[in-house]
Amino acid sequence: MFRSFLMFSFIALQITVIALPPTELSGSGIIPKPVSIIAADGIFALTEKSNIFISGESAELMQIGKYLSQKLQPSTGFGLAVKTFEGKPASGDFILAISSEDTQLGNEGYQITITPKAVNLIANKPAGLFNGIQTIRQLFPAKIEMSTLQQGPWEIPAGIIRDYPEYPFRGVMLDVARHFFQVDDVKRYIDLMASYKMNVMHLHLSDDQGWRIEIKKWPKLTSIGGSTQVGGGKGGFYSQEQYSDIVKYAAERFIMIIPEIDMPGHTNAALASYPELNCNDKATELYTGTKVGFSSLCTSKEITYQFITDVFGELAALTPGPYLHIGGDESHVTKLEDYIPFVNKVQTIVASVGKQVIGWDEIALSTLKPNSFVQFWAKADNAIKGVKQGAKVIMSPAANAYLDMKYNSTTNLGLNWAGYIEVDKGYSWDPATLVPGIGKENILGIEAPLWSETITNMEELEYMVFPRLPGYAEIGWSSPAVRNWQDYKTRLGKQNERFKALQIDYYPSKLVQW
Ligand code: ACM
Repeated sequence: MFRSFLMFSFIALQITVIALPPTELSGSGIIPKPVSIIAADGIFALTEKSNIFISGESAELMQIGKYLSQKLQPSTGFGLAVKTFEGKPASGDFILAISSEDTQLGNEGYQITITPKAVNLIANKPAGLFNGIQTIRQLFPAKIEMSTLQQGPWEIPAGIIRDYPEYPFRGVMLDVARHFFQVDDVKRYIDLMASYKMNVMHLHLSDDQGWRIEIKKWPKLTSIGGSTQVGGGKGGFYSQEQYSDIVKYAAERFIMIIPEIDMPGHTNAALASYPELNCNDKATELYTGTKVGFSSLCTSKEITYQFITDVFGELAALTPGPYLHIGGDESHVTKLEDYIPFVNKVQTIVASVGKQVIGWDEIALSTLKPNSFVQFWAKADNAIKGVKQGAKVIMSPAANAYLDMKYNSTTNLGLNWAGYIEVDKGYSWDPATLVPGIGKENILGIEAPLWSETITNMEELEYMVFPRLPGYAEIGWSSPAVRNWQDYKTRLGKQNERFKALQIDYYPSKLVQW
């Protein structure tokens, strides 16, 4: 009897402990880890009477306020009004304010002051407010993320959070060429990355197996080149309107889209669409396998450069961000003496349409323009050549940051040519010390690519992306001085409930207590 009573109270105690919301702000497991969290006494409670006040009449602030209201609506059932601030907040209000007094916060930083009366979010720029909202989402109980009505209370312990990023560029890449992903899938990925304060999505829009963006002057790129994918499925492509819709959706979440047209290699889909792009004037067959390094645009033909000018001209007009990605990787059948002048010419074309070049690390073999960027994925020597030419580097080391690498030998999806990347390995590296000769001053930021040879749908995408993505977000955002695996894995384990609320199909690594 006594024993079963003890058992009963033990179970009851456990349940109570799990059900209680945190009472101290510093106990919240925010990812990426903020610069500083100071707990204070008291608790803020969101109610149906809460308002979202914005400082001043601004369409952009109004949009951010509405974004917060919409995020909170489905689970709380509250339709929070967004209003211009006039006087004192009442109990339970949010205040979103732009103030340029705190220069340390930079373009993306924010400060949140939580009192029992209000949540006060300030930033220098709208992007900072957006990032602060992502933190606020994580401060509420995880069920705030659910798409169905939940029971409150919706409380946050009081305190102050100050936060700003380590690197300005924190990205993911999605390969929509090997397997095509629909607009709504890309939007879901954008929403998920935004919640961890990532701000760049690089879309790999062309490869041997598919061409995925409408180019009006070269329509067969999509009618032929977009007609299939790895495994022989039907492929697909984005119309220019759909691409613009993705760009706008991303911009509303302070995410820049970087489009990649890979060249001179990885071009079979284009070569199959237009015979004149081949040196022998014969169109190739469409390709649905997964080999790399067998295709090349004909670098000696004038039409090739007209083609590139047309493609990048149309893409530049659709892309507000400053970058066009030219690929440049694994051009194994292009002779080096042809590759180097090709990349030099393409840099000039990209400049002529008003953009800057990003290319995989091989492009550092050419003469880089002063504003070109090198994306390190495979050869440190190439990246160092880029640095020696004054280029900044985007860090995407395949052995640490490729989201398509298997977690371990039992992972069904993915590849392993760069090794296995368990969750700890994906997290435990510092971009600024990984490669001798490449320091923080040489680095623009980090990007985690997902190649889709084996990834055919969102469920598979999410299994490979989660739970590694929050780790890459933290590497890009949080100072190495505050990062360590032991602390991170506890916070990651606490994301479990959020992943479930957002219906993310993640890999439940045994290294983490979920
Ligand atoms: C690459 O993984 N070929 C950049």
